[in-house]
Amino acid sequence: YPYEKLTKLPAREKLTLLMRNEKLFHIIFAEQFGKKTLDLLFGVATKLRKIAKSREGQDFLGNLLAHKSAMLYFTQPSTRTYLSFVRACQFLGMNYAEVRDPSISSSFKGESDIDGVRTFSNYFDLIIMRHAEGGFAERVAYLMNETGRPIPVISAGAGPDEHPTQALLDLYTLNRSFGERAGGINGIHIAFMGDVARGRTVRSLAKLLTRYENIHMSFVSPPELKIKEDLRKWLDRRGAKFQEIEDVNTIIKDIDAIYVTRIQDEYKDESIVEEEVNYEPYCLTMEQVNLMKPTAIVMHPLPRRDELDVRIDQDPRAAYWKQERNGMWIRAALVAYVFNADSLINHYYTEN
Ligand code: CP
Repeated sequence: YPYEKLTKLPAREKLTLLMRNEKLFHIIFAEQFGKKTLDLLFGVATKLRKIAKSREGQDFLGNLLAHKSAMLYFTQPSTRTYLSFVRACQFLGMNYAEVRDPSISSSFKGESDIDGVRTFSNYFDLIIMRHAEGGFAERVAYLMNETGRPIPVISAGAGPDEHPTQALLDLYTLNRSFGERAGGINGIHIAFMGDVARGRTVRSLAKLLTRYENIHMSFVSPPELKIKEDLRKWLDRRGAKFQEIEDVNTIIKDIDAIYVTRIQDEYKDESIVEEEVNYEPYCLTMEQVNLMKPTAIVMHPLPRRDELDVRIDQDPRAAYWKQERNGMWIRAALVAYVFNADSLINHYYTEN
């Protein structure tokens, strides 16, 4: 496939190929989002959630994209990303369909995934996709640029590489939590704890945080699960302030946010012997939360296993259930933005 050579282009040229009319078109990488676009999306998400409180508002939203349709192509497991995109489409009045189980699509008959997505583009106006192969969504975006119906592609999680819309909801949650603080998100100290090597949500959020000023990032992990060299270099090149440590207790009283992650053992890595990893020190306890600042927040992309004590759910600093809900609004804002309906939402909000 000739378009596959595009994945080898320098980042700047690749990002241009993901745009249309000077706007983001395909959503594949967190680094596509500049501060201006982030602020726009946060504003639209907050207006959407307010508009949706009333029946009239829901009627307005429900007609906004009634002429558009989406294919939700999720061949990796998902609960909240999938459902929040479903609800986002429903709020905006879109038709949607799904392929989640390849064994009941023509994939079972040997059709390639690339031919499968090309087929979706003949029936739908947007592909929202989660795929186990890291660079697949990116390749699909370049393919779409060359098809007769060049429709946008939103990555809802690309193997161990990126999860750009999770980063959006994480940042939106940080924005809502620290928006009233002098400087907002600027200047916060955030700890990423757990499997920071394979956690795609960590990679995407860390990249987006470099859009803000004076952010201090601490990556807290077992020695086997440190951040990968490419992210380390990426952060270094942008002059990000970060450290890699093994003991969260040394910073627990100072941090403004902790982003806990589960071990990502579905991604096998030859350099990691899972049985030898001691994950217990990376399980956040209620006792540790009690040492955190009263204004701090506890985040987790979910789903969780044992790395997040369920007693923390009752603490007002627990932000992970809010993250889930914020995901629905920011994804609705993103879909509206992709179809240029964000200005209509802003207009309706101002007029009503
Ligand atoms: N955070 C997240 O991506 O969750 P799901 O796998 O349930 O979609």
